[in-house]
Amino acid sequence: MSELLLDANTKKHCIRTAKYAGVLALKLKRTPFEVCKIIFAALLHDIGKSKIPEEILNKPGTLTMEEMNIVRQHPQIGFEMLKGKVSDEIAEMVLCHHENVDGTGYYGKKASEIPIGAKIIRICDVYDSLSTERPYKAPWEQDRVFAYLVNHAGSLFDRECVLVFCRTQSGSLQRLPKESKRPVFGLQALRRSSSI
Ligand SMILES: [Fe+2]
Repeated sequence: MSELLLDANTKKHCIRTAKYAGVLALKLKRTPFEVCKIIFAALLHDIGKSKIPEEILNKPGTLTMEEMNIVRQHPQIGFEMLKGKVSDEIAEMVLCHHENVDGTGYYGKKASEIPIGAKIIRICDVYDSLSTERPYKAPWEQDRVFAYLVNHAGSLFDRECVLVFCRTQSGSLQRLPKESKRPVFGLQALRRSSSI
């Protein structure tokens, strides 16, 4: 795993995701040992992409259904690559980093089956993906990214993770955009519906 076998952009994405995940895990009051494991899993979360053809990963246009099915294999591939080389917990976080709390993720796991570390990595991964330029899209404005995260609290993302992440990254949810297509949860509503 010395070179991680990943392209430069994916490596940078993994490093940024790990940074955000470490901060979020600390803010969520995970233990120092847990925080270290989450950071390590975040660094490795896309290792399975090293087995996905680059022309698919960097395709500028929309992926075909067949290409999408290939991309969707990368968490499982990463899990297989890491199994026996890292702790089971870390491998499981990598396996679950595209799972949604409403069960609509890559492998359909329910919220209770998704480790907290994977929920943390999920939101940090999406935040970084939306905030940065990709071959198929321009970077989104920060307000638009936060609106997306908040709008999908409780469906794609764990509510508490969204609340704490947005507080930490933006300092305030007051800056949410007015042009959001879906109704945006206010901070109060999110706090009420959150477990904290
Ligand atoms: Fe991924």
